[in-house]
Amino acid sequence: MTDVASQGPAPSEADRPVLTNRQGHPVYDNQNSRTVGARGPATLENYQFLEKISHFDRERIPERVVHARGFLAYGEFEATGRWGDEPIERYTRAKFLNAPGKKTPLAIRFSTVIGGRDSSEAARDPRGFAVKLYTEDGNWDLVGNNLAVFFIRDAIKFPDVIHSLKPDPITFRQEPARIFDFMSQTPEAMHMLVNLFSPRGIPSDYRHMQGFGVNTYKWVNAEGGTHLVKYHWLPRQGVRSLTAADAAAIQANDLGHASKDLFDAIERGEYPQWDLYVQLMSDDEHPELDFDPLDDTKVWPENDFEPKLVGTMTLNRNVTDHHNENEQSAFGTGVLVDGLDFSDDKMLVGRTFSYSDTQRYRVGPNYLQLPVNSAQGATVHTNQRGGQMSFGVDLGPGQNPHVNYEPSVMGGLREAQYPTHDEQGPEITGRLTRKRIPRTNDYTQAGQRYQLMDQWEKDDLVENLVDNVSEAVREVQERMVWHFFMCDDELGQRVGDGLGITADDVRGLEPLQSQTLSEDELQRAANLG
Ligand code: HEM
Repeated sequence: MTDVASQGPAPSEADRPVLTNRQGHPVYDNQNSRTVGARGPATLENYQFLEKISHFDRERIPERVVHARGFLAYGEFEATGRWGDEPIERYTRAKFLNAPGKKTPLAIRFSTVIGGRDSSEAARDPRGFAVKLYTEDGNWDLVGNNLAVFFIRDAIKFPDVIHSLKPDPITFRQEPARIFDFMSQTPEAMHMLVNLFSPRGIPSDYRHMQGFGVNTYKWVNAEGGTHLVKYHWLPRQGVRSLTAADAAAIQANDLGHASKDLFDAIERGEYPQWDLYVQLMSDDEHPELDFDPLDDTKVWPENDFEPKLVGTMTLNRNVTDHHNENEQSAFGTGVLVDGLDFSDDKMLVGRTFSYSDTQRYRVGPNYLQLPVNSAQGATVHTNQRGGQMSFGVDLGPGQNPHVNYEPSVMGGLREAQYPTHDEQGPEITGRLTRKRIPRTNDYTQAGQRYQLMDQWEKDDLVENLVDNVSEAVREVQERMVWHFFMCDDELGQRVGDGLGITADDVRGLEPLQSQTLSEDELQRAANLG
């Protein structure tokens, strides 16, 4: 497949296929409506016209509430069969990972988060990195982002963080004053903000960025033993980013440069590749760490938890229709196969409800019957029937078609056998409550991230923060400077200098009601600067 300009010479008139409507009727005149006389009123029985216009009226489906602009491609995943030097079966019984050279077809959708379906791909925004593997045990989706952490750690805050980042409900403009109003009251967002306002916040395109699962998952082995897991995709093409000035120049000419870059590379046969690395941790609370392993505002230090290679993804095929395969594609965190599992990460459980919920609304209750979403690598036999746009029945071979219920002795479907061992993860007890996790530690890793940046990245981060935070009201600016001092003295000092706010101005600020500071953090707050 190629782009429109390189399709070659058009076939002769006689060889061109005839236009029909969807009922199979040939269209004899596609230029003139049926009317009473050449100038006369149109007639209502004009089926061809009604079909054409009324289908056009319904061409759009609701865009995704987040990640509306995106681009899909296909490829394959090749497993190493190992986690680093060890056989991978030690940690997971997932079949698609278990043999060296084992290949699994996949679809991936890259996206921006906040803008609408036609918005700029050069925006400062996280990038979505959603992968669907069509495995023999059914689909596995890993719905990740290009940044390793997230703004919040509890799913109940997701509509708020997104509303703050989306356009103002009245002016319909993205307003830094609203964004930083929310962020200034959300200390767990500092680590994400230090990433997002650095050059990493505008990847040069989709081929040159990392992908992270962000949330913590589990692996389960054949004995039922569990480990906590984090996933990282590293591009063999390298990582490239844009400064705000580079991005402005690109989006002045092209809002879709990243999709084009990916499409063109695949058409040229330059197939982009990403290696999948996995960090593992024993499945417990890890009281020795100064963060909670289920907190998605944190990374796991690579020295202590070495990421190890488990496979490589290659993208080698473009979509044949953007709407069918990109717009109607549906990824979700609930889509796991045997050997992979959820952790109790509070974001992950919330996400798992949200994805299929929105997809039933956005695409329809039978969204899993569409080719891009269906479990192509596995067999599907369900007792689900009906619903809008249902066109298939997932009958098993020899299944009595009258029996769409279970149990039955009349030839219906039966339950699968349990895997040999049940999950052996930690037992959980506790009272129902609404509480923050104890080890919030919102500033240490944000500060470390800043300290690890090259000088030009630090300069770019500070400039972007000053530009944006300066649009907020004074109280918000001061609180942001306080947070930045809590992360790192130099960062606080430099953003403060840009805003005309000193350490003395903010030292007396009380911690937020929404945070519990540790002894160390209280000490730091008292000695800011
Ligand atoms: C898309 C909800 C956090 C990555 C979406 C969609 C919803 C959603 C409703 C639209 C899905 C669709 O219409 O098909 C949530 C909620 C979150 C959350 C409730 C937190 C509780 C995250 C995080 C990440 C992420 C932490 C990154 C790890 C994505 C991606 C997509 C997406 C990549 C686009 C998937 C695609 O390309 O179709 N999210 N999200 N989300 N989300 Fe989240």
